[in-house]
Amino acid sequence: MIILGINETSHDAAISLIKDGEILFAGHAERYSKQKNDWYNNKEIYLDMLNYGTPTHIAYYEKPRLKHSRIILKGGQADWKPNIPMDLPVKYFKHHYSHAAAGYYTSNFFDAAIVVLDAIGEYNTSTVWIGEGEKIKLKYKQNYPVSFGLFYSAFTQLIGLMPNQEEYIMMGMAAYGDWKKYYEKVDSYFPKYHIQSYNFHKGIKDWDLPITEQDKFDIAAAVQFVYEQRLIDFMQMVKHSTGKQNLVFMGGCALNSKANTLLWNIFKDVWIMPNPGDAGSSLGAAAAMYGKHINWKGPYLGHDLGGEYPVKEIITELIRNKIAAVATGRAEFGPRALGNRSILADPRDPDIKDKVNLIKQRELFRPFAPVVLAEHASKWFDMNYESPYMQYTPKCLQPDKIPSVVHADGTSRVQTVNKKQHPGLYSLLSEWYVVTGVPILLNTSLNIKGQPLLNDKFDIELWKTTYKNDIIV
Ligand SMILES: [Fe+2]
Repeated sequence: MIILGINETSHDAAISLIKDGEILFAGHAERYSKQKNDWYNNKEIYLDMLNYGTPTHIAYYEKPRLKHSRIILKGGQADWKPNIPMDLPVKYFKHHYSHAAAGYYTSNFFDAAIVVLDAIGEYNTSTVWIGEGEKIKLKYKQNYPVSFGLFYSAFTQLIGLMPNQEEYIMMGMAAYGDWKKYYEKVDSYFPKYHIQSYNFHKGIKDWDLPITEQDKFDIAAAVQFVYEQRLIDFMQMVKHSTGKQNLVFMGGCALNSKANTLLWNIFKDVWIMPNPGDAGSSLGAAAAMYGKHINWKGPYLGHDLGGEYPVKEIITELIRNKIAAVATGRAEFGPRALGNRSILADPRDPDIKDKVNLIKQRELFRPFAPVVLAEHASKWFDMNYESPYMQYTPKCLQPDKIPSVVHADGTSRVQTVNKKQHPGLYSLLSEWYVVTGVPILLNTSLNIKGQPLLNDKFDIELWKTTYKNDIIV
């Protein structure tokens, strides 16, 4: 059985292909259509997938009719439907179940609490599941309109950003704000994890105070603070009601790396699949159909540019220019560039941030992330766990030595690398450590502003002509 998992009609269409518990391919539609947050899959991604196998079954990540019923009930229009590309048996899985399966079946846990928090599935917005052996059972659910994700997205929109897309920018802005200024007001919207005083789905219409530029940062700080408090309350409820020590956390809310860091204070071990949002549910639906753990080897599952990891060339370029752009091997499945479609830079240089920002043309307040040799991580960052997919933001312990990868609040969104996880990136960091005494590089996504991560050789050519800047392949 070769299962094609599909996610569409959300804000990040994706497909995955698995065979006997092995992941053959997983990729995002946007990287083929070059349309950021593309809603639909396209011919190019399906053709690339067929290089890895021919599906015999299709698993779809939610129940479209159930979702339509909710949209129509709430006065909306449901005039879209998924495109099923091949005449094969199709099975539809519930939205939150696909999230839960994506998390649990890629984890190495056989006994865990599984939490899914997002904006909204069909009706569910927060669910808790018990994973034991190969079984996943529902334990708790909260339905629309009470929603962690809708709360966060509505405030993202209130401060002038794009909901469902730019939540990560608001998270970054929080470090520059004073959370106390709007704490009481924001808290009154979401006083308990299962109680909200407002339906956030259509945005916040009753905000009666002016919003200056600084207020945007203060609101961001208050929203992040309230979100973290409710998240802790919720996770403590989960721990007490399930008695589990291991946590699998999924759904779009699991992309909030600042809040995720707090989970280590509650659970013994935590697994967040590196693509916890709806795109990752293409893999979740396929795993749900398989019904067992699948062999998770890492997120490098997309388009293959081939080649050995160009360690020597990157080091030479870093010594010469302090910045090196690299595109090689298989593309990352998930929103983060984790070394195969990355801009790498010398984190010791305080001016490097501005130089990288100039290339990327992005907001100056946004932080850059460090990638560090796993065995050195605890000397540089306040962490006793690995963070292979940039999902946590521990405090930086030596900020003066690596100023360009420390955020305004003194934290860093760390990617740790061990030998097994990415041998090429590991040997690059090892050599960089020999040369500089610092086992860390700045790592940010390789993309043209407003466009998805670079994917194929055509994107590389476009980058070179747009920026007159070379990429090491
Ligand atoms: Fe979702």
